[in-house]
Amino acid sequence: STARFTLDPAFTVGEVDPRLFGSFVEHLGRCVYTGIFEPGHPAADAAGLRTDVLGLVRELGVTALRYPGGNFVSGYRWEDSVGPAEDRPRRLDLAWHSTETNRFGLAEYIAFLRAVGPQAEPMMAVNLGTRGVAEALELQEYANHPAGTALADLRAAHGDKDPYGIRLWCLGNEMDGPWQTGHKTAAEYGRLAAETARAMRQLDPDVELVACGSSSQAMPTFASWEATVLEETYDLVDYISLHAYYEPEDGDLDSFLASAVDMESFIDNVVATCDHVGARLKSKKRIKLSFDEWNVWYTSRWEAHAQAHDPADWPEAPRLLEDNYSVLDAVVFGSLLIALLRHADRVTVACLAQLVNVIAPIMTEPGGPAWRQTTFFPFAQASRHGRGQVLDVRVDSPTYDTRRFGPTDLLHATAVRADDGTVTVFAVNRDRADALPLEVALTGLGLTTVVEHSVLADADPDARNTLADPERVAPHPAEGTTLTDGVLGAVLEPLSWNVIRLA
Ligand code: AHR
Repeated sequence: STARFTLDPAFTVGEVDPRLFGSFVEHLGRCVYTGIFEPGHPAADAAGLRTDVLGLVRELGVTALRYPGGNFVSGYRWEDSVGPAEDRPRRLDLAWHSTETNRFGLAEYIAFLRAVGPQAEPMMAVNLGTRGVAEALELQEYANHPAGTALADLRAAHGDKDPYGIRLWCLGNEMDGPWQTGHKTAAEYGRLAAETARAMRQLDPDVELVACGSSSQAMPTFASWEATVLEETYDLVDYISLHAYYEPEDGDLDSFLASAVDMESFIDNVVATCDHVGARLKSKKRIKLSFDEWNVWYTSRWEAHAQAHDPADWPEAPRLLEDNYSVLDAVVFGSLLIALLRHADRVTVACLAQLVNVIAPIMTEPGGPAWRQTTFFPFAQASRHGRGQVLDVRVDSPTYDTRRFGPTDLLHATAVRADDGTVTVFAVNRDRADALPLEVALTGLGLTTVVEHSVLADADPDARNTLADPERVAPHPAEGTTLTDGVLGAVLEPLSWNVIRLA
């Protein structure tokens, strides 16, 4: 049967914040070294940045770029990462059992953002694992204070007279996780986050601050963690973070395809928790959500690797978390993007974890090429066409049975209306076997033309792009999509991600 919904400009969710299309560069595996930075590579510029990767990062359309971690940040010593590269110390990175050379540091990160272009914005995390208020303030002063103090002048002496202007800061990373260096209880972290936030605002009242929420909705402390942390920090922070990664469990692909059901419930539950604390505090302020780690991630493969490695071995830039994504993964990934857009009223920062090589849309080979994974395409299309007002989409869809979520809609969809009045529908058909007919009633939108219907689907849902075959998978145009008398008609291929642009 047919899936249906209605679009009407009178019914909107909210404006998409460009920061919804953020990503994440962590000192982890080959994200930095031989990913974005590889001096001596034929495509490297004078600063050692890979221009082939820069081109793909621009095409991907990423905005806020979170750095330097992730778990890495909980052992991060910012002062190791500045000054003459040859003087920087080599350190043990406990999070990823690697050696950090510090050859790439804070100045190189800022240079990378500037090379990406004006759409790229820094999103810097401070270490609240092994460190605290003083070091966060030092980093903030070094990065942002114009001149005339020891740390601002040190930055200038290191070659950057102009301050970096970092507005958006994460107060630590996943402090609820027992794996985190310096892991804390909610009460301990809430106090530290509040004191750090207070001090950072004394230095600059205009910073935007993200408190750590839960590492996933499945954490045993989920929701009580957020409530306790926000009781301490409500007036001092702007955002609470959410992290979520999805993979098939016990081969259950139907539940995997419905991962966005979990993501949307996670968002709803965090919103409820934030607003509950706001109500208790009699506050008019609304905490925003920073979904600053999300993706498909085959964590089971990483866990097997972590158990097998030699504890005496501390390699530099090892191959870690280099998941190779299939078409099926990209359809789930597209559905996660749809979930974020459907909550654009409260989720105003989101970071695809990560950018290059590490669970990433872009892959590289040291000394060799860079290429697009399957997941590259939904992200690039959503970032390009998903700007404007999200329209309220309530689908009437046939359902399928899933072990984890029960009966679930086969159609997952959202739509965004740009300032020029054009509308883009993003839709996923979760049906692995059959095409799904779609009808969308368009009211009061003045739309007459189907500009494009692009599909990511394949006769082989396991198809992937690889070093040997880097262009095996790409979106293709759909046939037969119509817009007649205010009704959009389309057929969504089995297991597909669809972008339908209307004018
Ligand atoms: O993105 C990989 C890791 O996942 C991050 O370092 C950590 O924050 C999360 O557990």
